[in-house]
Amino acid sequence: MDIADRKEMRIFSGSHNLELAEEVAELLGVSLGRLNKSTFSSGELYARVGESVRGFDCFVFQSHSYPINDAVMEQLIIIDALRRASARRITAVMPYYGYCRQDKKVLPREPITARLMGDLYMAAGADRLVSVDLHTGQLQGFITKPFDHLTAIPIISEYLSTVTSGDVTIVSPDAGGGKRAEKYARQLDAEVALVYKRRDDHVHNYSEALAVTGEVEGRHAVIVDDIIDTAGTVCNAAELIRDMGAASVRIAATHAVLSNPAVKRLSESGVDEIVVTNTLPVPAADQIPNLKVLSIASIVAKSVHAIFTEGSVSQIFLGENA
Ligand code: R5P
Repeated sequence: MDIADRKEMRIFSGSHNLELAEEVAELLGVSLGRLNKSTFSSGELYARVGESVRGFDCFVFQSHSYPINDAVMEQLIIIDALRRASARRITAVMPYYGYCRQDKKVLPREPITARLMGDLYMAAGADRLVSVDLHTGQLQGFITKPFDHLTAIPIISEYLSTVTSGDVTIVSPDAGGGKRAEKYARQLDAEVALVYKRRDDHVHNYSEALAVTGEVEGRHAVIVDDIIDTAGTVCNAAELIRDMGAASVRIAATHAVLSNPAVKRLSESGVDEIVVTNTLPVPAADQIPNLKVLSIASIVAKSVHAIFTEGSVSQIFLGENA
């Protein structure tokens, strides 16, 4: 046996999006690594690696879905167990990266949880992070180790190209999403419009859509965002552009956080379709008739394969994942 060639991979998954991890493992032709997980009476989580991982390249999947603190803690505990079991390299794969929106101080004496998250993953023993459509690309700089940033925009755009035709306008529901809207517009050969959104820094999840810059009248509008949380942002934008005479209105976003009252707002919004991905699990009860959930398993599987084989991740996205 040539021990220099010995390199093995294992994918482990937390409890918060097992379906996606299984889909990725199947595409890669591997089975999920064994974990013995349980919860103590006090609520503390426990995870023991159920097989030897000495010298292995390990990927730990977890989507930071509700209850988010348990999701993060479970992933950190699995990483800690792998490190103590002598894994060679540990990659934390968080298709949706929780706490990432608190990336700067807006008011005095606020925390910056996006940085705290990076520190926690580094302290636990992660050698690399992988996530999809980060709230802002500069989050990659919040850790000193490599951060592979994937994007679901090609998957969502490909789907949108099958359901839209004629004059299409990609609408960013806030100024911060302008670059994202341009990426979609390049893929769909569309125009771009921007909504002027005003937040209240003292009230979580509250915002207003005040005005639109760009052409929407008589055009097929697609509002694109990274996250649908309470759906206030996208539904306010939808109402405004429908009032301005858009011919049809769609909403597309990578991460379906769908906190209350998102499902009610989306059902009552009157939009033609809502397109999201499975970076977060979408429970059956939230799957309203005009909600389309696309799988990102193929891009995650390609990226995990590239990381394991030391190939290029950016090539998978033709450089559009910066
Ligand atoms: C904000 O900058 C984000 O891109 C989303 O627009 C926002 O987090 C969505 O939150 P909600 O759905 O609660 O309005």
